[in-house]
Parts: sequence; structure tokens; C-alpha cells
Amino acid sequence: MSINLSVNLAGIKLKNPTILASGIMGISAASLKFCEENGAGAVTLKSIGHNERIGHNNPTVYVWENGIHNAVGLPNPGIDGSIDKMSEMLNVLSIPLIGSMFADTIDNFVMVAKKMAALNPAIIELNLSCPNTADDLGRMYASDVKMTHDVVSAVKKIVGNIPLFAKLTADVTDIVEIGKSAEAAGADGLTAINTVSGINIDIYQKRPILKNKVGGLSGPAIRPIGVRAVWNLYQAVKIPIIGTGGINTGEDAIEYIMAGASAVGIGSGVWYRGIDVFKKVTDEMKVFMEKNNYHSIEDMKGIAHV
Ligand SMILES: Cc1cc2nc3c(=O)[nH]c(=O)nc-3n(C[C@H](O)[C@H](O)[C@H](O)COP(=O)(O)O)c2cc1C
Repeated sequence: MSINLSVNLAGIKLKNPTILASGIMGISAASLKFCEENGAGAVTLKSIGHNERIGHNNPTVYVWENGIHNAVGLPNPGIDGSIDKMSEMLNVLSIPLIGSMFADTIDNFVMVAKKMAALNPAIIELNLSCPNTADDLGRMYASDVKMTHDVVSAVKKIVGNIPLFAKLTADVTDIVEIGKSAEAAGADGLTAINTVSGINIDIYQKRPILKNKVGGLSGPAIRPIGVRAVWNLYQAVKIPIIGTGGINTGEDAIEYIMAGASAVGIGSGVWYRGIDVFKKVTDEMKVFMEKNNYHSIEDMKGIAHV
């Protein structure tokens, strides 16, 4: 049986639906190329901001039994320090590069987006939802309908034909309202979800384990939260969704696709299953599809909604 794993994401063709999620493999061309060589359909850049950021103090990562808890705090060289690196990535990669970015104000979002768009990545993703920078970057944009609308519409005006995705958080009363607001403002797609805010406490030291106290949880613990977010968004918006959160296996990816995702982001899965997680996940998807007589991703998209 012939199986077609390719997907069309807001006009961008991916040979398979697996995408390296933002922040996992940094911002070197070599590490993103390594993901391509290990089967990724597309790769996302670590989020780049308006200025260089050092990030939070250690400990910034805690590997908990059910997930990974991080408060790295968006360390990055800033857009000016990233332009050469991004150009190199675009030269070496044969798969689409998704440029992820964030900022503190709308003016700074626009400034970063202009510089990033000039490099012409396949997609630009607005990280509106990092949970552990709230103290110094203000509220998460994706926690508010109007803030989401304002930032998406401002950036959309200047990215030209580059599809614009808004990355959302499940840490809100109603993710559907935020997703609809991004769509109405011109977003071409959504990414759901970012990490989920949490605290782990060391009961012997009597204090939170992460130096920042609050961190973002990723990995298997958040998968049902991500699937629920995609499920609800799929019923409310027409634009494609990159389902992200706790995907380690082909079966996990199919769960997201049946909830309505057009493609899947894999972050912590690189840690759980190794860099070839992309190849493993696509091989496992193929086995499932063969056994269950699905020919394409489109055949499975959203079919759990009955
Ligand atoms: C160490 C680490 C750093 C991350 N950095 C970013 C980032 O810079 N920008 C972003 O949008 N998401 C970032 N994320 C969130 C991931 O892209 C992803 O949305 C989240 O981890 C859930 O997916 P997963 O369970 O497959 O890891 C980061 C996650 C981790 C674990």
C-alpha cells in the first residue's frame, strides 16, 4: 500500500509532518541540519528576541519522572546576533526552516519580524507563550485576546507572503478565544501548545527546585493537555495547527492528527528517544497507517471528532 506522509502547512510542503519544536536544538546550523538528517520534516529555530538575553540562573532544567521542567528563560543572541546564523541555516537546510521570535513590545516584535522576514524563512512563528519570562517580559501575549490580536496584526502587515503562525499556551481560561483572535488578525496557522507552567519543590531543601521557581513543563505529562487544546482549536478555526506537547511516538503524533493537527512539533522527544526521534515517529506512523488502511495524513486529520 502506498503511504503519503507529506503535508501542506499553510502552503509550505513538508515531506512528513514531524517538526523540531522551538528551543530544543539551539541556533546552530549544524544542529538543525542534524535533525534534517534524522528525518525531520521541518525545523524550528530557538526563539530569537529583540536583544541578547542570558537567560535564568541554574538550575534551569529538572528532569522529573513524567516530564521535563525548564526555566532556561529564552537565552538567545538577539536578532542582530542571529542573522548570520540564520543565513547559514537557510543555506544548508533542504527542509523548511521556521523562524521563531518573541519580544516585549509590539514595536520590538515588528522590528525583529522585519529583520527575520528579510532572510525569508519558510514560516515565522510568534512565540506569544513562554511561561517563565513573565517577570521581565510582562504578561504572555497569548494570555489575552486583544494583545494577541494586536501583535499578530502588526507583524502580519510586514511579513509579506511568509506564513505567520502564533504559538499559544494552554495556561488560559479559553484557548479558543485566543486562537480565534489570532486567526481574525491574519495568522496563517497556530502552534499549540507551549510548555505548561508549574513548580516542583524539593521538600528536603524546602524550596522550589528551579532557581526561577516557576518553570515550563513539557514531555508526556502534558500530552493530553496539548491534545485537548488542538481538539478545541480545530473546531473553532480554519487555519492549520501544529500540535505540540509530549509527542514521543508515532501513536502520540497520530493522536494529535486525529484531534485536528496538520503537523506535529517534537521537543522533549529528542531527549527521550534520541535525535532520530523524527525517523522513529514517522516509521511508527507508517506502520499504524498500513495496518489501519490510512493512505495519507489528510485521511486521519480530525477524524476523532464524531
Ligand atoms: C529546554 C526548552 C526550551 C524551550 N524553548 C522554547 C523557545 O525558545 N521558544 C518556544 O516557542 N518554545 C520553547 N520551548 C517549548 C517547546 O517548543 C514545546 O512547545 C514544548 O516543550 C512542548 O513540546 P514537547 O513536550 O515535545 O517538549 C522550549 C522547551 C524546552 C523543553
